Amino acid sequence: MALPDDFTFGVATSAYQIEGGRSEDGKGESIWDRFADNGRMPESGDVACDHYHRWQEDIALMGELGVDAYRFSIAWTRVLPEGRGAINQAGLDFYDRLVDGLLEAGITPYPTLYHWDLPQALEDDGGWTNRATVDAFAEYAEVVSGRLGDRATDWITHNEPWVATFLGHLEGVFAPGRTSWEEALTAGHHILLSHGRAVPVLRAAGAQQVGIALDCRPAFSATDSPADAAATRHFDGFRNRWFFDPVFGLGYPEDMLAAYRERGRFVGDHIPAEKPGDLEEIATDIDFVGLNYYTSLPISAATGDESEETGVPTGPNPPPGHTEMGWPITPEALTGYLVHLTQRYEPKAIRITENGASYSDVPGADGRTRDQARIDYLAAHIAAVDAAVEAGAPVDSYFVWSLMDNLEWVEGYRQRFGLVHVDHATGARSPKDSYYWYRDLIAERR
Ligand code: FCB
Repeated sequence: MALPDDFTFGVATSAYQIEGGRSEDGKGESIWDRFADNGRMPESGDVACDHYHRWQEDIALMGELGVDAYRFSIAWTRVLPEGRGAINQAGLDFYDRLVDGLLEAGITPYPTLYHWDLPQALEDDGGWTNRATVDAFAEYAEVVSGRLGDRATDWITHNEPWVATFLGHLEGVFAPGRTSWEEALTAGHHILLSHGRAVPVLRAAGAQQVGIALDCRPAFSATDSPADAAATRHFDGFRNRWFFDPVFGLGYPEDMLAAYRERGRFVGDHIPAEKPGDLEEIATDIDFVGLNYYTSLPISAATGDESEETGVPTGPNPPPGHTEMGWPITPEALTGYLVHLTQRYEPKAIRITENGASYSDVPGADGRTRDQARIDYLAAHIAAVDAAVEAGAPVDSYFVWSLMDNLEWVEGYRQRFGLVHVDHATGARSPKDSYYWYRDLIAERR
């Protein structure tokens, strides 16, 4: 492998998907709690993996796995139940103990400030559509980093702004369930602005490496027809460039501003929420960009230039070459995309902050979970990262999504991304074959 000796191998999770402890020790209500209460989820995260109580067991699992780093997210409502103002010390204490426990196990903590669980109190005031939420986010960043910044050195501001923006505010299939273009573009702008505002706050508290985790759907044209090529370019703008470009100082893509204007999505030359100076703040210097990569998609004018529809349903027994999320398995596109990002944006470093596959294998009679499909997926994607490094991409880390099976948002518990199987009736954890495979891969490189 071309990967350098100091390459970081880790695992990732997020608060709502694993913690549970919904109202414990003073935790406030988040937009996902409300979304679940409104019947928008097959299961709620009220208990999830009960990590709030089992965190020591989970650190032990990571210790045995031998990972260098653990990416987790902080539940804003544990720390600031109302989003701003009164601080809940008990919530901060939880993350304080977690960070200490990780460091004792020799694992570098990678806190993510925002993995989509906005305090409901802020949502009641307009949420991300309200510019005041940017200030609330900076306040939250200050409170958390003020407590953890003496020990946590690597930080991520936001996870996947595209998802929070468009699934949450346009399609309405994720919390908070809004469905308007104007609200989506406004929310997305404020999310990016809050990233820019939080970076210096984190640095002031001692953070040494600060970045943002952007998701992507690299797209390729289904045919070489001009119509499909145009649809692919639009899709790339909608899905990828809309966030990467401003973060790297290129502003919002001109072709997309024109297309949105033409489609009547906002009036004027700027998106509704933009103010002078915002783009400079969004383009604040970062130490790395996180990339969450799962799949890439063929785009055609016929399916639509803003659609991810592949025609493959989610669920068990996917067609060959797909995971149970219905996503095509496309490791070679990861190599290509990493090289593309390197050339277009010249990031100082790229970290694969999520990559993984959903397969619902469960323990057999002998207790062993044979998840060879996951091993194949991970091996192919690590090889794809290796090829990108060989080609000059500055990738220095790779995090598997996920340490353990967890609440896969609106897909519920049926989608299983874990290296560790979780019996959601009892909370019992049991490592799968992929866990031992990853453990050996890490050990062999040492
Ligand atoms: C990403 C999310 C993560 C998980 C994976 C499968 O979009 O960041 O929480 O749901 O997908």
